Amino acid sequence: MDIDRISQEIYNNIKNANRIISPYIHKTPVEYSASLSTHSNADIYLKYENLQKTGSFKARGALYKIYKVKDRVKGVVAASAGNHAQGVAYASKIFNLKSIIVMPTKASVSKVMATKSYGAEVVLYGDIYDDAEKKAYEIAKERGYEFIHPFDDPDVISGQGTLGYELLQQLPDIEAIIVPIGGGGLISGVAIALKKRKPNIMVYGVEPENAPKMSVSLKEGKPTVVEVKPTIADGLATKKPGKLTYEIISRYVDDVVTVSEDEIAEAVYYLLERGKVVVEGAGATSVATILNEKLDLRGKKTVLLLSGGNIDLTAMYRILLRGLSRTGRIMSLRMHVPDVPGTLAKITSIIAQHRGNIVEVLHDRTDINSPAWYTMLKITIEVPGKEALDRIVEDLKKMNIIILE
Ligand SMILES: Cc1ncc(COP(=O)(O)O)c(C=O)c1O
Repeated sequence: MDIDRISQEIYNNIKNANRIISPYIHKTPVEYSASLSTHSNADIYLKYENLQKTGSFKARGALYKIYKVKDRVKGVVAASAGNHAQGVAYASKIFNLKSIIVMPTKASVSKVMATKSYGAEVVLYGDIYDDAEKKAYEIAKERGYEFIHPFDDPDVISGQGTLGYELLQQLPDIEAIIVPIGGGGLISGVAIALKKRKPNIMVYGVEPENAPKMSVSLKEGKPTVVEVKPTIADGLATKKPGKLTYEIISRYVDDVVTVSEDEIAEAVYYLLERGKVVVEGAGATSVATILNEKLDLRGKKTVLLLSGGNIDLTAMYRILLRGLSRTGRIMSLRMHVPDVPGTLAKITSIIAQHRGNIVEVLHDRTDINSPAWYTMLKITIEVPGKEALDRIVEDLKKMNIIILE
């Protein structure tokens, strides 16, 4: 593969792609983050691509690719469980082309609805992405439609590269960037856009520990299939990099790091609480990298790409609950309490004194593990913080209550 020639062609196309797609996308904001800068001793900026049309950067690549094929095909087909589906559906609508999106049967209802809302025909097929992809290729062949690859396509990569082009206009003295990696189309486009203009800009990739295809492939020296475990960064749950994206990343990306599921969840929670911004797991991996000091960026003007915001509300709910309990703001206390009238009233009054708010009470007199004349009580409370909780526990112990761990 002549990677120098292909990369140069992609670079040459990015400016043109930007001109073509800019009427249909937002120029997403870039903002300084004081708290993340203090945390990392770097100058941290966030690029809010979660606010992009369709909720992710995917609209960029899809728009440019579909623009390129629109005059020679009757329709397009894509396979995706998430953001690529919405990008392709949106872009097809813009260019008046029919689109069929094959989604695995387990795709979330909200993503299926969003894809349909752009006018795409949705076919639900198979348990996993691979089944859906096979079906999509079949449909493309039967109907003479163009299959739109989610990442391993020079035009898709040029479209994603418009993000890097836009960033250079917004922050010309950028020194480093962290980009989430799924199949690698996004980071390939961004790396070419930045490095070919300013080779000293450091480009870093991040992927979940549960889907480490690019780190493993770089170590192996070739695109390598990895086992993918469930991840809340579902947009990055790819088992193998593309042939083209692997070559581009080997050439232009300085390092790739991994983050754990807890680190990703913490980053989603952090962005919601501190930034008041909704970012999906994949999009928050760049922030997880900084919060967990995976890279030394001291003194560098660094952009963290928030690549998408399409998080399921049920996933967000679980992340919130975990985050609130990790930071000691919502807690469940299990205890054995004396089985006499008035105990519950005393307990609730102690909780109230320390500004705790009761969420749920479970009072189980049938619990056989309770000592004689005691009963089991589980109380879930919201508290202002860990200190208040410690004081509540202290006061409860003074009442002969046995706190269970
Ligand atoms: C929100 C989000 N971020 C990042 C990526 C990774 O993009 P790529 O597959 O081009 O590496 C995806 C892919 O779907 C995504 O949905």
